[in-house]
Amino acid sequence: MLVPITVHGSAHSEQPSSDHPFIAHDARLAWAATADALGMTPAARAALVRELDDAVREVDGTGFVVTPFTRSDVLSDELGFSDAGGVWVKDETGGVGGSQKSRHLFSILLHLRAMELLGELVERPRLAIASCGNAALAAATLACAARWPIDVYVPTWMSDGFGDRLDELGATVHRCARRSEDLPGDPAMLRFREAVENGSVPFTVQGPENALCLDGGRTIGWEIGAQVHAPEGPGRLDGVFVQVGGGAFAASLGSGLNDDDPAVPLFAVQAEGCAPFDRARRRSVGLDDPASQWEQVMTPWTDPASLADGILDDETYDWLGVLDAIDRSGGRSVVASEANIVAAHELAHRAGFDASATGSSGLAGLLQVVAAEPRAESAAFDPTACVAVVMSGITR
Ligand SMILES: Cc1ncc(COP(=O)(O)O)c(C=O)c1O
Repeated sequence: MLVPITVHGSAHSEQPSSDHPFIAHDARLAWAATADALGMTPAARAALVRELDDAVREVDGTGFVVTPFTRSDVLSDELGFSDAGGVWVKDETGGVGGSQKSRHLFSILLHLRAMELLGELVERPRLAIASCGNAALAAATLACAARWPIDVYVPTWMSDGFGDRLDELGATVHRCARRSEDLPGDPAMLRFREAVENGSVPFTVQGPENALCLDGGRTIGWEIGAQVHAPEGPGRLDGVFVQVGGGAFAASLGSGLNDDDPAVPLFAVQAEGCAPFDRARRRSVGLDDPASQWEQVMTPWTDPASLADGILDDETYDWLGVLDAIDRSGGRSVVASEANIVAAHELAHRAGFDASATGSSGLAGLLQVVAAEPRAESAAFDPTACVAVVMSGITR
């Protein structure tokens, strides 16, 4: 139930203290800075976060919380780390909609609702997204909570079960068959873009479509940064392995984590059956300004294929952000073999994480590095190293 919020107040009103990810990091979030510039007080922003969070809890049974970050003994032992080091897991599987996608979308929703409360948005435009995975689930969950109409553009092959869940959440689902007059590309994406041209808000997890998704995505990086240095944390991290599809996740996690010193090397992981980011990174070596040569450097992958089907984006839309996060942190790009994608999924389940193959594919990158560089002086990680992976994504 959405309740009235008093948006204006004393310019000196205090930011309420909270461990809620979107209240604790208010001073760093772009949606909050915009609302602040238009006169919305810190207390009103916190009330807005709580209002939407309560509504999300009613729909999803969970709200936005600081997700667990713990050492996995099973992963650490199986990968040969000693007690002095290990594999730490940021577990997003219990997050809103079962994945990190909701963090990206919540900053867009907060911005829209703040504009509404401030009188800047007088009529609700429809929300639009092209996805048939975790992003669609998160978008439909948040839209349902805010009672905001949403169109979800999906491929014809989407499973009926997933469609039923989107229906339950009140989303309008459009199965998009290719039309004879269509330009090359994903028909769901083409219909989504048409909807945006006709006034819908891109409620999507792709920075070039809506950069505000990168805003909330940073909360996971800030959280990991704080958890590393908490009394029960490892105290330092020698690397963080993040799966890359469209790239918004790795770009924003890397940006948030490396806001604070010292930088943690970001290992951006793709599957061998779809690695457009890795190819673009190799093509961009020696270029002063890779962005200016986007069309030559980031080209679509032909025939993407992997068990990790949530990272089969043929183009890494946020590749510039991922590249930046790697370069700033001293990280690298890793291409995981399909055998390691499968092995990582099994290993994640043995270690007790209910992650999808997509959500465990960062671990596949760690397996790749450890297998390719057996423990030697030149190894990327010695047994005392502390490394992190993110487990996420309930859809299969
Ligand atoms: C569980 C999970 N992890 C990671 C990703 C990759 O995120 P991005 O597309 O932002 O790179 C996805 C994308 O669908 C996902 O569902």
